[in-house]
Amino acid sequence: MQPINLFEYEQLAKQHLSQMALDYYSSGAWDEITLRDNRAAFERIKLRPRMLVDVSDRNLTTSILGQPLELPLLIAPMAFQCLAHPDGEIATATAAASAGVGMILSTLATKTIEEVAAVRQNFPNALQWFQLYIHKDKSLTRALVERAYTAGYKALCLTVDAPVLGQRERDRRNEFSLPLGLHAANLATVSDLDIPHAPGESGLFTYFAQQLNPALTWKDLAWLQSICPLPLVIKGILRGDDAVRAVECGVKAIVVSNHGGRQLDGAIASLDALAEIVAAVDSRAEVLLDGGIRRGTDILKGLALGAKAVLIGRPILWGLAVAGIGGVSHILSLLEHELSLAMALSGCQTLQDIDPSLITPPQG
Ligand SMILES: Cc1cc2nc3c(=O)[nH]c(=O)nc-3n(C[C@H](O)[C@H](O)[C@H](O)COP(=O)(O)O)c2cc1C
Repeated sequence: MQPINLFEYEQLAKQHLSQMALDYYSSGAWDEITLRDNRAAFERIKLRPRMLVDVSDRNLTTSILGQPLELPLLIAPMAFQCLAHPDGEIATATAAASAGVGMILSTLATKTIEEVAAVRQNFPNALQWFQLYIHKDKSLTRALVERAYTAGYKALCLTVDAPVLGQRERDRRNEFSLPLGLHAANLATVSDLDIPHAPGESGLFTYFAQQLNPALTWKDLAWLQSICPLPLVIKGILRGDDAVRAVECGVKAIVVSNHGGRQLDGAIASLDALAEIVAAVDSRAEVLLDGGIRRGTDILKGLALGAKAVLIGRPILWGLAVAGIGGVSHILSLLEHELSLAMALSGCQTLQDIDPSLITPPQG
């Protein structure tokens, strides 16, 4: 039986994943309060649909940093996608490109920067960004950035909410590590680095502690901008003052995100942080949102509160696990249909019609 929504994909995916992979994909940090609240925040918000609008013809297209998208959706950067399916990030990138949605490739991908970029040979307009984790070893970081630029990625997405890794206790219990034959492909190719096996600890937690730079500050953005002409996107902002700081540093887009509840447990739900950040940014950068988006109505709510587009995370992994590229494509088409239906039912012909007045209590 084919799943008909993203929740059914999640249930089905459990049958296709090892316990270690399922726990790594699904878990949040510590008590998973933020993980749950990301979903609950969408459920708290109620809509005020508009009636008697001609919605026979709906347009879901938009653009992000000047690049067109068929719908206001990007696939969030997620590490180790070959744990779900041997085609991993290539399947995700191909499904994204053929649906006209964006894809952000993780530094910790299990396919290389170049392999994923090659998907653009068949889809020259595909929106691909590279997500960066800044390592202590500056030359390694520089090599990753240069490879992303050379391979034609259109933006650098710097994740700032992970100076150290959040403690995901299921991963700790499982002593998470990659199975034989899987590697952090981009690190292996530049420096022979890999995720270690760490007794009593998640190998990824240990990797972050050993290799990533916890001393990163706003000043380092200038260094990044000096070595790479790509527009900079910052992922992991939850406060208006940080968003303003990012804009002042020349950042072109901000992803309001708590890393899917995987970093600081107890952090605000990303949807709850959105309005403050949209107001603080005041149209000086594009604002994106991720965390807990599972329905077309969730996308509608995010856009109504001022996001230009949203990122979707775990459901893509569920789609991959169930049916590889076909599963990811199906997830994307389910979201497209749900968003289109939600727009029709709330009186919106285009994404521009999705405004704060759709949310209760009336905003703006
Ligand atoms: C398995 C997994 C791996 C992730 N890896 C990364 C990563 O490498 N870089 C990053 O910036 N965010 C990473 N994230 C966070 C996602 O980009 C995104 O913020 C989050 O998953 C969105 O929430 P959602 O899964 O509820 O849609 C990861 C999330 C998951 C679930």
